[in-house]
This record gives sequence, C-alpha cells and structure tokens, in this order.
Amino acid sequence: MASTPDRGTWGSRSGFILAASGSAVGLGNIWGFPTQVGQGGGGAFVLVYLVCIFLICFPILVAELAIGRRTHQSPVLSFATLRPGTAWWLAGALGVLTGVGILSFYSVIAGWTVAYIWFTASATVTGEPEAIEKFFSEFTANGPSTVGLTFVVLLTTAGVILGGVRSGIERVTKVLMPAFIVLLVVLAVRALTLPGAAVGLAYYLRPDLTRLFDANVFNAALGQAFFSLSLGMGAMITYGSYLDRRDGIANSAVWIVLLDTSIALLAGFIIFPAGFSIDGFNPNSSGPGLIFTVLPQLFSTLPGGQLFGMTFFVLLAMAALTSTISLLEVPVSHFVDARHWPRPKAVGVVTLVVFTLAVPSALGNGEINFLTSIPGIDTDFLTLMATVWNNFALPMGGLLTALFVGWVWRVDHALEELLAHEAWFPNTALWGFLIRWICPLAILSIIIGTVYSMV
Ligand code: PHE
Repeated sequence: MASTPDRGTWGSRSGFILAASGSAVGLGNIWGFPTQVGQGGGGAFVLVYLVCIFLICFPILVAELAIGRRTHQSPVLSFATLRPGTAWWLAGALGVLTGVGILSFYSVIAGWTVAYIWFTASATVTGEPEAIEKFFSEFTANGPSTVGLTFVVLLTTAGVILGGVRSGIERVTKVLMPAFIVLLVVLAVRALTLPGAAVGLAYYLRPDLTRLFDANVFNAALGQAFFSLSLGMGAMITYGSYLDRRDGIANSAVWIVLLDTSIALLAGFIIFPAGFSIDGFNPNSSGPGLIFTVLPQLFSTLPGGQLFGMTFFVLLAMAALTSTISLLEVPVSHFVDARHWPRPKAVGVVTLVVFTLAVPSALGNGEINFLTSIPGIDTDFLTLMATVWNNFALPMGGLLTALFVGWVWRVDHALEELLAHEAWFPNTALWGFLIRWICPLAILSIIIGTVYSMV
C-alpha cells in the first residue's frame, strides 16, 4: 500500500494507546459529559450513553483504526484508496470539515480552562455560589480575554503539530493520564462525602424512565459518545494510519474505550454530588458553565483547595491539548497528504481558518450574541456549534464509516486486515453484525427521530 515514507509510526503499541487515549480524553469527558447529563435528565442519559458506547462506538472505533492501518493515509485518501473513482472520499472530507468545526468551539472552552488555572491558584474564584457564578458569566462575557485565550490555545496546538512531536504526545500523556485519574478519584471521594451528596448520586445513577422515550436524549447521548471517543471525523483513522502492522487494534480499542468511559463516569461522580450539596442547584440551568461553577466550590471545601484547583485545571488544560492536537491533525494531514502543501503552510492556513470561526463562539457569551436576533434560536453560538457538530456531523460520519466498512469495503476484507497480525479479537461475527446492521440502523433512527421531534 502506498504510503509517504516520512509519515512515521508510533514508538510502540503503548505509545499509540497513549496518544489515542490522549485524543479521546479531554474536555469531552470532564466538561461535556456532566453538562450533557445535566441537560439530558441524569441517569437516563447515562444509561443511553453507555449503550451507545458499547454497541455503536466500540465497533466503529475498531473500523476506523482498521481503515487507517490498512491504508496508512489521512481520511480522504483512505476512503479514496479503498474505493478509487467513487464519491466515498466525501466521507473523509466531512471529517476534515468537522475537525475544523469542533476545534473552533473546543479551543474557546480550552481557553476558559487555562484562565481557571490562574483564577483558582490566585483564589479569585471563591465565595458564595452566586459570586462564583457571577464571576463565570462576567469572565466569559469579556470578549478580548476569551478571544485572546482561544488564540493562545490554537497557537500552542499549532506549535506542537508543526514540530511533528508525536513522541512528545506519548511522553506527556504517559504522566498526565495516571495523575489525572488519581486527582479525579480524590475529588470524587471528597464530593461523595459532602452533605447532600446522596441526592446528587441518585440523580446521576437512577434513570428517569420517562426520559428513555425522548429522541433528544438519544441524540445527545450518541453525539456525546462520538465526541468523547474522537469518532466520526477521521481522527482515529489518522491515528490508526501511524500504526504498524504488528500493532493490535482490538485490544488497543478496549483500552481506549475503558479509559475514556471511566474518566467521564468519574467526572459525574464529582460534579453531581458536589453540585447537589449547593443550595438551589439546578443541573440543567448552568449550560456550558456547569463545571466552572461547581468545581471551584468543591475546591473551597478542601484543605489546600487552591493548590488542588490549580493542579486540576493544569491537568485538564493538558488533556484538552492532547485532544486539540488530534483535531488539528486531521485537516492538516489532509492538506499535506492530498494537496501536497508543505506542513507549515497547512498548519498556518488551517489554524487561521479555525481561529476566525472560533471568534463568534468566544464572543457569544458577551453583549455580541450573533444569534439573539434570529427568531426561534435561543442558544449561544458556542452551544449551537457544539450541537451541530457533535450531535449531527459526528454521528453522520460514523454512519458513513459503518456503511463503508460493512457494505463497501466489506466485513471480510476488514477482518482480513484486523486479523492479519491479531492475537486477539473478541468476536468476529458479532463485530460484523454490529457494523453492518446495528450501527447504521441505530444511528439512522436516532438522527431521523431527532429531526422528527424538531419539526
Ligand atoms: N475526544 C475529545 C474529548 O473528549 C474531543 C475530540 C473529538 C477530539 C473529536 C478529536 C476528535 O475532549
């Protein structure tokens, strides 16, 4: 299979697992998951989310990695290589667009995270819950600082991508991930021992069965599952393309899914017990600000809370960085591989486009909300972007990937690639069945159900 000689491969299989987990674990787990649980009605959302992860996302993760390892190409060329002369390359192109779209709002929230390192370290966000909430809304309404922070995040990401320091990602993630998990466990223990924690726990774990008939809960859970695992936009095809033939896919995928899902679940064990210990807390009303208002209050109940808070936001910012790297890598590697742009040009142009698109998301919480003048839309620009890209573009990308692997490239060819050097594969017949039937039908019905509920 044609592959550019200088594309490089991962240092080792554990290096790949680290980098792919670094892509998966990020704001999606700590910021996105609790926010979505809060808006999707608690336990019901969690239940649907877990079903989506195991029945839909796991098989698609395996499929994306198989495409990448087979072709050693970026997404557009991957589809084009496996089915030349057809329109399937468009599935890869959708991923390139989605990467740009997601990065444009993701970098704004990553910017908030960077600022909160300073705010917690300097004890700027402390005091009564109302004061902490007021601080968040005033901070996010300050256009110049949110735009500036977004720029810093994008510049840092571009710098890493430009250096092509893949070994750097591996090394950072190796330290980052265990440290992050330890800190999250400590915070969860503290949150669970606060007064009122039981109410939060019940909200988080006891599904309200009436919500199981709500198409929007399904749509949000599916979108969140794709977002959290970096699926449906070619990030995992790209990362798989740096895999050596000897590297196992199935057991790597198991690791990535378990790590990503446990970190998201852990975040819920922190936010809801801590949130419900605050008087008058409503998980549904805080929107994107949920973690930025609940966590500072949790830190204030801890001895050495400032240090805890600072360390937490440093680790979160680094986890976000290993995700923004993979988001930028998809469009950049596309222009390098398919258009033969020099890497610096690709990085510069894509970063500039992302930054331009990010400005309305960064400003949307201030006086300049571009959307309030449009009748029928009552969200801010950032939330709208997150909904469009996460809840529609990613599942659409996943649907195309499942159809492609299941019916076009075909399961037997995919399995040939998957089993070529594989010592272990869970169940080939089940994987084939899920990728051919369950993934496409489930994604399609959720998308149709959502559109139907909107009109
Ligand atoms: N999975 C990342 C997170 O949870 C976000 C991401 C989505 C990264 C899609 C790459 C591709 O934060």
